[in-house]
Parts: sequence; structure tokens; C-alpha cells
Amino acid sequence: MTLKDKQFIKWVKNKFKNSEVFEEDLQNFNIEQVQNILKFQQTHPSYTHTPLYSLSNLANHLGVSMIQAKDESQRFGLNAFKVLGGIYAIAKYIANQLGEEIEDLSFDKLRDPSVKQRLGDVTFISATDGNHGRGVAWAARELGFKSVIYMPKGSSSQRLQAIRNEGALAEIQDVNYDDTVRICARLAEKNGWVMVQDTAWEGYDEIPLWIMQGYSAMALEIVEQWNQTSEQPPTHLFLQAGVGSFAAGIAGYFLRVYGEQAPKIVIVEPDQADCFYQSFITEKGERQFVGGAMATEMAGLACGEPNTEAFKLLRSYASGVLSCDDAISTVGMRVYGNPLKGDPSIVSGESGSVTLGAVYYLRKFMREHSITVDLELHEDARILVINTEGDTDEENYRKIVWDGFLPVQ
Ligand SMILES: Cc1ncc(COP(=O)(O)O)c(C=O)c1O
Repeated sequence: MTLKDKQFIKWVKNKFKNSEVFEEDLQNFNIEQVQNILKFQQTHPSYTHTPLYSLSNLANHLGVSMIQAKDESQRFGLNAFKVLGGIYAIAKYIANQLGEEIEDLSFDKLRDPSVKQRLGDVTFISATDGNHGRGVAWAARELGFKSVIYMPKGSSSQRLQAIRNEGALAEIQDVNYDDTVRICARLAEKNGWVMVQDTAWEGYDEIPLWIMQGYSAMALEIVEQWNQTSEQPPTHLFLQAGVGSFAAGIAGYFLRVYGEQAPKIVIVEPDQADCFYQSFITEKGERQFVGGAMATEMAGLACGEPNTEAFKLLRSYASGVLSCDDAISTVGMRVYGNPLKGDPSIVSGESGSVTLGAVYYLRKFMREHSITVDLELHEDARILVINTEGDTDEENYRKIVWDGFLPVQ
């Protein structure tokens, strides 16, 4: 098989999607609640909203109406969006311990020595491929608590160091992401530590929900920014998925705001860790797991077990899943970083770029293909993508963007 014959993108349409939007499915994404979460996040002195860029020359080039990209590489100086979830989950945990509401709290109040006196020493533990753990370690340190962070086999040493720099006790394990989560759950139980995991499973769903809600605050920012530049909402929302918490957090808020007029929600996964794709191709749409090494450049998306709560929402409301070869992510990194004149240059890492890479590839090389047609990715499309991380592994970034590693042609 030559590179030309290779299938870089697979698509499954979601045949389990609801025909209408039911409010009871969206109770966790109440607009006022999300506003309060964003207000809390804004109490941190280094908070600024991240930019929503218009890639209008790229949209022209690809023959679509609009492409806007939210750049989360600029979030809190941490090079990824994930901290939005960790911050809120830790704050909400502390608020509950204190018997307070999050809307009455700020970073300053939580940093007050009296809080530590009342709570004693708390250690937060989490498993991560990099970004989530860095966010948890950062939030714990900011609030004066300890953190322990474990990473799966093959994790990048730069990402490990970034977590240690936030004061966490961090180690790489000899197992994959999902098994690392299980190790952390056991340690939390044994030592009385608080597990702040960004995925839910049977019996563990409260903290993961707070994490998803933390991500929804980004969707609130996006809606406000989008409305400043366009009178019509996006038609397509491309969302990358590891365990699906991010996609569900963003999708939940958009569904809440736009109801039946919500954009098409398209899940994008690496083909080596495509647990949503594998679930949606089954006859009944039951949650499927992908195991083993999950060897993909998209480290942040190398998760084989969907979050139970995120899965429920996405199964009901996503239009389908794109399962992508690593080359879709690498082309996305190059397109982001080397824009057409007039568009901004955006530094996008392996997990951040795959959605733009998919849009580019479908419009450039598969315009007449049934996937593109089925997605209605045509000239009227108003597309929203989110660059969820910057160059969190700088050496790999250069290998891909400078040296041309993993081409699509
Ligand atoms: C950069 C980046 N994008 C997207 C995701 C996907 O998030 P989730 O695992 O909630 O699906 C991750 C997860 O770690 C990530 O690090």
C-alpha cells in the first residue's frame, strides 16, 4: 500500500443520536452555574480569556464560510486547557468541605491560612498523560496543598518535568493510561488521598462532573466571543476526545445555549485509541474499551475507556466520530503554525491540532467523499475548532513541524 492509498480518516455516523434536545439531559450545564464557575476561575490573578481567532483566509482556501479557533495554549500560562477542570474540581471539593458555595469563594479566600487549619493536610492524586496532571498540580500548589501525579508508560520527559515543576510528586508507571488510573484509585483509597480524575466510572462520578463543568466555562467564553464576530452560531463543533470529558463539557454547554439550533457535534479521536468510534459502530452503541499500548502521537487522547457520564451525553447528541491517523494531527500542527498571510500563527500540539487537521484534510483531499458530504462540511459551514494544547513536548513539536515527521501525502 502506498501512502496515497492509505485511509487517514474513518467516520461513523451516530445512529443513536436523539432527534430532539431534552433539558433533563443538560441539568449539569445550567447557564447560571457555568457563569459562577467562570467567575470563580476569573478570581485567579493570572486569569485572562484565551483568544478566539478567525482563520478567514484558511476558510476561503478550503471553501467554507468560516473557521474560528479557540487557542487554549494560552490558558494560565500552562500551555493547555486542562487546568480549567482541575482548578474547579479542587476548589469545589474544598468548598464542600467548608460547607460553602463556590459563588461565595475566590482564590484569595481559599488561600487563607484558616482554610488549611480547618481542612488539615490534603493530598490530591491523579493519573495523567500530562496536561490534566499539570493542571491539578498547579491548582493544588496555588492553594497550598500537596499532589501526587502518575503518568502512563511512554510519557514525555518534558511533560513529567513540567508537573514536577508545579511541586507534585510525579512518576511514570509501566502501564497504559487506564491502568495508571486504577493504580491511583487504589493509592487514594489506601492513603486517604483525594482522587481528582478527569474520567468517571461506576461509583466515581462527582469529581469528574466538576471537571467537565470546569471545561464548560471555556464554552461560555467561546459563545461570548463568537457572538461578537458572527450573528449566526457555528454549524460544526469539532471536539477531540480522550475519555470524552472535554467534548461533553463543551457540547453540554452549547446544547444548553442553542438547543435544537446547536451545531453538529463531531468527536475526533486517534485511530489507536478510538473508544468512541468502536462504541458507535456496535449494533447497540454500548461503551467499548480499547486496550494495549495505544501508540499514538496524540498522547492526551490516548485513553481507551470512555467516561461513563460523558459517553451518555455524547451518545445522545454527537453526530458521529472521526477516527484519525496520526498524520491528521501532524498536518493540523503544520497548518496552525504556518498560516496563510493575514491569519494568526498558532502553536498547536499533537492533541490540540487533530480537529483542524481533519477539517483541512476533508476539505482539501476528500471534498466529494461520502464522509465530507455526510458531515455537510460544505461552503456554508461555520466551523469551530479548539486548539487544546500548545507545544507541550517541544522536541516532538519540532520533529513534526520543522522536520516534516508523518506527512499526509
Ligand atoms: C490537549 C488535550 N486535548 C484534549 C484532551 C481530551 O480530553 P478528554 O480526555 O476529557 O477527552 C486531552 C486530555 O488529556 C488533552 O490533553
